[in-house]
Amino acid sequence: MSASVYVETFGCQMNVADSERAGVRLRAAGFDLTKTPDNADVVIFNTCSVRERAAHKVFTRIGEIRRMRLGNEPAMGVMGCVAQLEGAALFDNSPSVNLVVGTRATDRLPQLIERALKGEPRVLDLDERAETDKWDIPATARTSKYVAFVPIIEGCNKFCTYCIVPYSRGREKSRAAFEILDEVNALRDHGYREIHLIGQNVNSYRPKTDAGLDLFRGATPFCRLLRAVAATGIERIKFTTSFPRDFHPDIVAAINEYENLCNWIHLPVQSGSDRILRQMRRGHTVSDYLRRVEAIKNSQRQIAITSDIIVGFPDETAADFSATMKLVSDVNYHGLYIFKYSERPGTPAAKLDDNVTRGEKAERFMKLEEIQRKNQEQIYQSFVGREIKVLSERASSKSDEDITRHSTCHKVINFPRRSIDLGQVATIRVTDAKPISHYGEVLAAA
Ligand code: 5AD
Ligand code: SF4
Repeated sequence: MSASVYVETFGCQMNVADSERAGVRLRAAGFDLTKTPDNADVVIFNTCSVRERAAHKVFTRIGEIRRMRLGNEPAMGVMGCVAQLEGAALFDNSPSVNLVVGTRATDRLPQLIERALKGEPRVLDLDERAETDKWDIPATARTSKYVAFVPIIEGCNKFCTYCIVPYSRGREKSRAAFEILDEVNALRDHGYREIHLIGQNVNSYRPKTDAGLDLFRGATPFCRLLRAVAATGIERIKFTTSFPRDFHPDIVAAINEYENLCNWIHLPVQSGSDRILRQMRRGHTVSDYLRRVEAIKNSQRQIAITSDIIVGFPDETAADFSATMKLVSDVNYHGLYIFKYSERPGTPAAKLDDNVTRGEKAERFMKLEEIQRKNQEQIYQSFVGREIKVLSERASSKSDEDITRHSTCHKVINFPRRSIDLGQVATIRVTDAKPISHYGEVLAAA
């Protein structure tokens, strides 16, 4: 089959990793992958439903492609979370869609596309992964040449009441440690300088066997995996997302032991009110959470903590929101993603009355953003004069003149483009700070 396929990706790092994996399977089956939808025989959208109106966005894109390719319409497919949740309904809502590929059908994409190209009008696969499916992606098939996402666990068993992920991604399934380590070693040998271990809850990692972890101690399988991955010697290791209830302080101990485990932890709290946390069924209280934060702050390294917050969950009162403001001030996050609550059909919270008005949600969002901006300004100012290590990852999506660079604590650093090449790690001195980025001068690069 020599047809060409264009894959467009929305959403989280797990989707980026899935699209890479889809690309590998498609190339192996003889398909060409294209960088634009202009002439592709098949256009696939890898979708996300965590953000509001994601399905809507996909339909808009499908309409755009149809108009752009009028008279020469490609076969169109939807994969990822929207595909898993909407299933066959997508065919009814959009007659241009020929192919619906669920979150665990990525490895079967080549055969599914072949069926669509042979003229089958509605090709649908919402089944589980086969036990024999491999997760690994060769180093040569990655989007970035220097930073790679490595899935270690997929799915979620937590069922927070507002969240669609347990339904779109299914139950937690951990990947064998030896397979992860093989992949990290191959990436290192190929010149990759940074990896991100990814999963909805990385610290809930529980592989079926110990293989690969035997030589490494740790309070939980994830702590052992961190030490094993660190021992591969790859230069920088980040991991996300951490679930507060399963966050063991031994993770901090591992970061203290291994310099290449980066000093950044994304630990979403969602709310600063125990009453709302209970309604969200998060499985932790504010004081449980603060105990984890304390352990992180007591580290001998300065570890940046970032978080997610939902404002305007059903029944959130002014007092609940004040508690969230207080928590955000107390923790002093290095970065914060704020979301206005919105109903996801099929989740338990969707049965509750979404009774915080849009106006109140918007106001709470802005108040929280304001507090965070002030805190963050101070944190960023405190970096001025310090030396930090920065990796130049890729050209910025906004301008050809810029390069996207991150510190080990996952902050964005700017300096003149020509000072260092893509893929280099530079030591820079921070000379100036803005609320969400640093400016610096390069001292040395390698
Ligand atoms: N409404 C608003 N925000 C949500 N998130 C997940 N589900 C919802 C929802 N229904 C946010 C959470 C999560 C982040 C990825 O998205 O804060 O941590
Ligand atoms: Fe969603 Fe909660 Fe699972 Fe995170 S832990 S993916 S918020 S259900």
